[in-house]
Amino acid sequence: MEFSIKQGSPEKQRSGCVLVGVFEGGKLAEAAQALDKAVQHYLSDIIAHGDMTGKAASTLLLHNVPHIQSERVLLLGLGKRDEFGARQYLDAVRAAMRALQTTGAKDAVLYLAELPVKDAKKPAQAWCITQAVLAAHEAVYRFDRLKSKTDKDKKVLKKIQFGLLTAKHDATLDAALTQALAIAQGVKLAKDLGNLPGNVCTPSYLAQQAVALAKEQKSLKVTVLEEKDMLKLGMGSLLSVTRGSDEPAKLITLEYRGGDKKQKPIVLVGKGITFDTGGISLKPGAEMDEMKYDMCGAASVLGTLQAVATMGLKLNVIGIIPTCENMPSGRAIKPGDIVTSMSGQTIEILNTDAEGRLILCDALTYAAKFEPDSVVDIATLTGACVIALGHVATGLFSNQDALAQELLSAGEQTQDRAWHMPLWEEYQPLLDSNFADMQNIGGRAGGSITAACFLARFTKEYRWAHLDIAGTAWKSGKDKGATGRPVPLLAQYLINRANSK
Ligand code: BES
Ligand code: MN
Ligand code: ZN
Repeated sequence: MEFSIKQGSPEKQRSGCVLVGVFEGGKLAEAAQALDKAVQHYLSDIIAHGDMTGKAASTLLLHNVPHIQSERVLLLGLGKRDEFGARQYLDAVRAAMRALQTTGAKDAVLYLAELPVKDAKKPAQAWCITQAVLAAHEAVYRFDRLKSKTDKDKKVLKKIQFGLLTAKHDATLDAALTQALAIAQGVKLAKDLGNLPGNVCTPSYLAQQAVALAKEQKSLKVTVLEEKDMLKLGMGSLLSVTRGSDEPAKLITLEYRGGDKKQKPIVLVGKGITFDTGGISLKPGAEMDEMKYDMCGAASVLGTLQAVATMGLKLNVIGIIPTCENMPSGRAIKPGDIVTSMSGQTIEILNTDAEGRLILCDALTYAAKFEPDSVVDIATLTGACVIALGHVATGLFSNQDALAQELLSAGEQTQDRAWHMPLWEEYQPLLDSNFADMQNIGGRAGGSITAACFLARFTKEYRWAHLDIAGTAWKSGKDKGATGRPVPLLAQYLINRANSK
């Protein structure tokens, strides 16, 4: 799909469809007023007849509207004007994108950028356009590459233009559009990888994807460490998880050096368990298929690095992906086994299903070699995080409040939100072990916190944050599928960092 921005009034557009907004009570948004005037109150007549009430996220498609050149007009309900905020805007835009897909329009001009969104992040027009681009991609996304027959609902809509009535069409809006497209592409990559089944998306497959990405983006450099390399580095914890699997583990590093040579890099570490059976502490069978998503942290690192490279951010960013399977077998680790991590700390593995932290701790120790400015890990780490925050907010933990704030506000900006959770010392004793330096679980209470506390023992040397995306990386049920979160949050965080330099 092609996107652009143009200035001009709605009645002058020659396109497959013009979209304008209507508030509840039939109050027309600015562009709708202009259009209504040009069509001699054709729109207000329809509204007066009760066919469009302006109810939030409702749509009404009109054909052959007199006096204009466009083939169609799509009225978009925006809800109550004084309640029209970021969430209402997003709901409306998603509905609009879905409705547009069902029409025969090849192109459309959308008057969305100047809608009066109460809490839109500044600059408001750039924000509106970014969110609309992400929603448009969301609406057309299908994962059908593994179906033998794909439904032939061929996508006719090829071109979306954002119409501006009064605002100046300047370079900042074009920049916002370019960034939004890069983020949308990163989200798509993360979704595709997440949706692939465990028999296709293996650790080797993830490594191949990283290599392919580095081939396509010349600014990315990739290295893949094998198990023998990890053994030399002393990654006893990571290697203990992969023991039960026949697929070889990989440690992928992607380096992007867009900033000054001396500038310390931001390191992203993504959990890449391509399938989590639980190991000997086997998971129950119901919905176990969803554990193919246990590499969504890794996928978000790949998606974010693709976006960073596409945007050409003036920043140094490094992605590290520890990846393996968690399987039961005669060689698998057992409850009670004790392993030595790369940091030298020993770990008593009381539950082999708490494997994410076991691969992350070694990757986090490895991250220190890049002398990072800060490190952010992203992991589908705990079911407890889903219980705590549901499927709305990502759990955020950090050893530094300023870093936490930066990530929280990047999440607010992109509507890919996170919630700050505690990482207090008081939780640490729950990880004490009688036989090793620590155990890998802290009991049922505060499970997402003790998991973060475990990681904190390996990240003392640098500014670090941990994003638990167990509830936000995919949707269950009828619309089962990866969400691509938190690529928007991460990409925005890096954009903000590059801008502040
Ligand atoms: N990958 C899971 C976490 C998970 C569970 C994500 C459900 C999404 C939905 C992780 O490896 C895991 O199994 N965690 C255990 C930890 C427990 C054994 C301390 C969990 O959350 O049950
Ligand atoms: Mn597990
Ligand atoms: Zn897991």
